[in-house]
Amino acid sequence: MDSVSGDQIVCGYHGWRYDGEGCCVHIPLLRQGAQPDPRARVRSFPCVEQDAYLWVRSGAEAPPALPARIGRMEEFIWQQGTLAMQCAATLGIENNLDWCHPVCAHPWTHGQFFRNQLAGFTEHTYETRVTDTGVVLFGPAAAHETDPIPESFWFKARFDLPERLTLEFGAGQRMLIIMHLVPTGTDTCRLEWLNAIMPSSRPLAGVRVRWSEEDSTVFMQDRLLLESAQRANEREGAEFENSVGADTCTLLARRIIALAAQQRWPSARGTLPHRRVVAVHAWENHHDST
Ligand SMILES: [Fe+2]
Repeated sequence: MDSVSGDQIVCGYHGWRYDGEGCCVHIPLLRQGAQPDPRARVRSFPCVEQDAYLWVRSGAEAPPALPARIGRMEEFIWQQGTLAMQCAATLGIENNLDWCHPVCAHPWTHGQFFRNQLAGFTEHTYETRVTDTGVVLFGPAAAHETDPIPESFWFKARFDLPERLTLEFGAGQRMLIIMHLVPTGTDTCRLEWLNAIMPSSRPLAGVRVRWSEEDSTVFMQDRLLLESAQRANEREGAEFENSVGADTCTLLARRIIALAAQQRWPSARGTLPHRRVVAVHAWENHHDST
């Protein structure tokens, strides 16, 4: 197992030590006074330490901007896992901004499915707002464009470039899901997920994260559909897809990702609607419904 010693990483196989540039600076088996061969080096990546994690950008040469703060790490109990998916990361991002899919895609596993079983479909609105780093969706829509996002939202989903999704559920915001859709190839990705629940007894002593070896059934349900969609996209091309108004947020995210890939974000932000209110015929989620 590799380990960290000061500013160096120590290989667990033969004890070779590497500095922050990836250069081998010490080999225990060399005779006294001998220096490591300069060719003994590995790739190095920009990284930052924040929110109890080490954030590494492996796909870019430029130093990364600091990732957005998760914040409130010590207020929640966290569970973490990972899931490899045979689909483009963009599909995974769009999936989590899809306001309406859980009723159909997550039978017997998702709160929206159960709400729909109890109350059926109703008409209501959600709102999207484009931000400097992506887009945020919440429901119900605010009364006015200049109003802040309501404190008592039913649901809020935020996408931040390049790959983070933050989902918050219900009043009190006691449940949080953070996902990173990390590209591992053109049409493959890895879902790194963090589920958080705020315990009733506080405060916690430090940050608590538990690794999960089990795959969440909800994520497995999404993976099945997304991998199927990936194959259909490859087979049928863009003509395969049809969209409706409920897809407004996913389509906005797609455009933002495309603009960012062209180095046109946030400079092109003004070409997108700052705010959209979308009427949908979907699951019921009124706290105060009668
Ligand atoms: Fe889903």
